[in-house]
Amino acid sequence: MSTAIETIRAQFPIFKRKIFLNSCSQGALSEAVEASLLAHIRSWHEQGSPWDRWVEEYENARTAFARFIGAEQDEVAVVPSASAGINSVASALHFGKRRKIVMGEFEFPTMGQIWLAQRPRGAEVKFLEAKNGRICAECYARAIDEQTLIVPVTQVCFMNGFRSDVASIVKEAHEQGALVMLDGYQDCGTRAIDVKALGVDFYVTGALKYLLCPSGIAFLYVRRDLIRSLTPTVTGWFAQQNPFAFDVKHFEPASTARRFEAGSPPLPNVYCIPAALSLLEGVGYAAVAEHIQTLSCALIDGARSLEIKIKTPLDSVGPLVVLQMKDAEAMVQKMAASNIVVSNRMDGLRVSFHLYNTFNDVEAVLDLLKQNLDLVVHE
Ligand SMILES: Cc1ncc(COP(=O)(O)O)c(C=O)c1O
Repeated sequence: MSTAIETIRAQFPIFKRKIFLNSCSQGALSEAVEASLLAHIRSWHEQGSPWDRWVEEYENARTAFARFIGAEQDEVAVVPSASAGINSVASALHFGKRRKIVMGEFEFPTMGQIWLAQRPRGAEVKFLEAKNGRICAECYARAIDEQTLIVPVTQVCFMNGFRSDVASIVKEAHEQGALVMLDGYQDCGTRAIDVKALGVDFYVTGALKYLLCPSGIAFLYVRRDLIRSLTPTVTGWFAQQNPFAFDVKHFEPASTARRFEAGSPPLPNVYCIPAALSLLEGVGYAAVAEHIQTLSCALIDGARSLEIKIKTPLDSVGPLVVLQMKDAEAMVQKMAASNIVVSNRMDGLRVSFHLYNTFNDVEAVLDLLKQNLDLVVHE
C-alpha cells in the first residue's frame, strides 16, 4: 500500500474494523466529516440558534459544490435528496407537443417513478432496454425525436456499473431540442466533473456515496438560461426570492436555482460538504479516478481468472464492479462474516472502490469468492 493511500485510509476509522467496499451505497465516514458535523452541534450547543452562521454555512456548501462541478453558485440548488431535485424540475415542465421522456432501464428507480408520476399531466415515458449490460448512445438516438421533452441519464448504473456515453446522448438530445438531466449519484466524487463541458441542462446528485457525507443533502444544477423559464410547483419558502420576508400572500420564486428548493435546508449536513470536498481535492480528482480504475481492473481480472460471470462491461473504469451470483444475498453474508462490507442488487454482488481502498481489499474479496465458488455464476 502506498504511503499516500495509507495516510488517507487512516482518516477513515471504519478500516480499523472492516474492509469497506460499499461506497456505492454509503461512503465511509472520515474524521474530517465527523469534525464538521460536530462543529454544527457545537454551534447549536454554544449559541442556541445562530441562524446567520447556519445560513452562511448553507451558502458555503452551495459554493463549494458549484466550484467542484464547474458551475456558478447561483446555478445550484441545495436539496434534501436527488428525488426532491428531480421532482422540482418535473413539476416545472409542461407536457404539450413535447411530452416524451426517454430514459434507459438503467436509471435508479426514483427517476422512472417520478417521471411516470407525471403521466396524468400528459407525460409519455419511453424506456430503453439494455443489451449485453449496455444501453448504447444509438439506442437513445433512435428513440429521441422532436416530441422528446427530456432525457434523464444515469452517469453510472447502480445495478451493473455501466457508464453511459453522456456526450453522445447530450448531442443527440440537443439536436432534437430535448433537455438532458444527468444523474451523477453513482459517479460524483470519483473524478472531476464539468457540467458546462458536458453541456447537460440539469445535473442531480446526492452526497452520501462517493461524496462521503451523510444522507439528507443533495444538489441540483440547472443551466443558467433555463432557470427563470421554469417555475416549480413543488416549492416552499426557501425557494422564494426573499424567504425572510415571511410573506404568506405572495409567491415570488428566487431568480437563481434556489427556486428549485423548498423548505428549511439540511443544516447539519451542509457543514460536511466543504470538509468532504477538500479531502477529495487534497488527493486530486485525477489521482482518485486513476486509483479507482486500477482497483476495478484488478477485481475484473481476478474475477475473470476465477471464471465468474461479470455483469459490468469489461472496459469499465469503475467505481462499481458487479459480479453475477447464484445467491448474491448469501455471498454478501459470507463477506460480512469475514468483515468485508459489500452489497447486492438482485443477482449482482456489488463491490465499489474509492480513494481509501487498496489491492489488499481486492485480494480479500477474491479470496472469499474462491472459497465460495458454489454461490457464483460461472462464465
Ligand atoms: C443513481 C442514483 N440516483 C438516485 C439515487 C437516490 O436518490 P435520493 O434517495 O437522494 O432521492 C440513488 C441512490 O442509491 C442512485 O444510486
